[in-house]
Amino acid sequence: MSSHNLNRSTFGNPKNAGNLISIEDAHQLLNDWVSNERLRLHMKQVAAVMKAWAIEKESADGQTALKWELAGLLHDADWEKYPDDHCRIIIEELEKRNIDQDVIHCIASHGPNYFGVEPITKIDKMIYAIDELSGFIHAAALIRPTRYEGLEVKSVLKRLKTPSFAAQVSRDDISDAVSRAKVSLEDLIQFIIDHQKEIS
Ligand SMILES: [Fe+2]
Repeated sequence: MSSHNLNRSTFGNPKNAGNLISIEDAHQLLNDWVSNERLRLHMKQVAAVMKAWAIEKESADGQTALKWELAGLLHDADWEKYPDDHCRIIIEELEKRNIDQDVIHCIASHGPNYFGVEPITKIDKMIYAIDELSGFIHAAALIRPTRYEGLEVKSVLKRLKTPSFAAQVSRDDISDAVSRAKVSLEDLIQFIIDHQKEIS
């Protein structure tokens, strides 16, 4: 098992149900912890897609949509400062701030093969599916002169079948995540293109 294994299965405290930080405070945390623009953009993109998915596909209310957005916005917040303790540090920070368990468990399970935490609920399963695909799609957009404009699902699918393109992105994780979330890969790619293209 990876050294990133969290060796835990419960996160946060049930007493904190419904306790969330504001989006402004979450952005402040990102600004304080992450100087890499590209990494900040990645988290903003995942947050936008997570929020849109909650609202459009899960009929989430405002509070629930905020959980999805916060998990997306903070899931890699500790990556730059604490690469060897990635995931553990942000989880402990959110536990210190008495944040709702759903958000913390979602972040803890965003990479089951690295952190050893199984995605259980839909928010968990979707962050796992959206995270890797979002970065991959952004890489596919960046190499095009028109970026997201005219980027088609079939060209993303073709790049997924090209192992040398964005080679660090695990195709196995993507298939695993999509099958656990029970979503169509094609539909999810289109959804991500549509909802992250305007994020800067
Ligand atoms: Fe990520």
